[in-house]
Amino acid sequence: MSIGAFLARLPVTYVLIGRILRARMVCATIAENHDWVFMANEKKGTILSGMRPTGPLHLGNLVGALVNWVALQDEYDCFYEVADLHALTDRTDTSAIAKDRIEVLLDWLAAGLDPERSVLFVQSEVPEHAQLYTLLGMFIPVSWLERVPTYKEKIKELGLGESASFGLLGYPVLQAVDILIYKADAVPVGEDQLPHLEMSREMARRFNYLFGDVFVEPRALLTKAARLPGVDGRKMSKSYDNAIYIKDPPAEVEKKVKTMFTDPKRVYRRDPGHPDECNVYFYRRLFEAVDAEEIYEDCKNARIGCTDCKLALAKALNVYLEPIRRERAALSERPDYLNDIFDEGARRAREVAERTRDEAYEAARILREK
Ligand code: TRP
Ligand code: SF4
Repeated sequence: MSIGAFLARLPVTYVLIGRILRARMVCATIAENHDWVFMANEKKGTILSGMRPTGPLHLGNLVGALVNWVALQDEYDCFYEVADLHALTDRTDTSAIAKDRIEVLLDWLAAGLDPERSVLFVQSEVPEHAQLYTLLGMFIPVSWLERVPTYKEKIKELGLGESASFGLLGYPVLQAVDILIYKADAVPVGEDQLPHLEMSREMARRFNYLFGDVFVEPRALLTKAARLPGVDGRKMSKSYDNAIYIKDPPAEVEKKVKTMFTDPKRVYRRDPGHPDECNVYFYRRLFEAVDAEEIYEDCKNARIGCTDCKLALAKALNVYLEPIRRERAALSERPDYLNDIFDEGARRAREVAERTRDEAYEAARILREK
């Protein structure tokens, strides 16, 4: 297997490639196999995506979204948003939001998002979002919003009942504004966000139909990476308490890996394993720069025990996370720098957002007649 084909099988290596490139040590072999390396000035369009600041990010966020976001910086003009207003749609305790915005930024930067190339900003610091949200909301039927599956699911999941907020119902309008205000062509998202994206397209179409072409219909860029399960095999999620965090110290990573579920059919050390049904194997294939074939065979032929196998994984994860963790710790000592990034991000975001807001208000004929 060529080194290029090998790297392409490991989504996480894109982070490493990003680091290597930034360090200006362009390895000829990698460059040959990735012609996008040389396309830095021919951007394909505009990207917007966002994350809600609900705490530090985990490995699922990293390989499921961030690694992809980092790679997209080379091909697109990217806007990445900390969706703090969205975080308020399902809670009344707002005390952690300000701190969590910084946690998210730390994870972003440590994973390789570049504030020079991409616009990294906080949603609530770009007031044009709120202005366009007010306008767009006037023309969106409530029945559309009530049909969005995530609305009913959230109410059930959190037991909100009658206390579900107006903001929760409006979630998809706010998300549509996030995207439409930058006229983003593409939105990198996981499958769970597809209903929201479809809604954004329909809202763009409706506004354009009523008032003329203002908005671009965004398309979804489905993230290719398989979803990373949590240590218990379910979807990795903070609320399931099964997540490994980017900032977890090495001992914590090891402790969590030791609790991972393995092949349920392998009871004794001498039993042959079924790596395809084992979460640990899934992780090792993703994070280790050795031939996965070998791990596969060792497991199938009972040449390795699950305890050793997990230790190998914990070690590999820590090797992978170490530079990210180090960068994160260093950045966390520089609060002024982090605030500057958000200031500059809001400034750059507003330049675009202001223009679109004006176009929309003008199209809807509520600006003063000239
Ligand atoms: N709803 C997204 C999530 O929970 C976060 C988000 C907010 C977003 N605004 C966005 C994602 C705009 C994509 C585009 O993951
Ligand atoms: Fe899973 Fe490794 Fe055990 Fe095989 S040896 S079942 S891959 S933990």
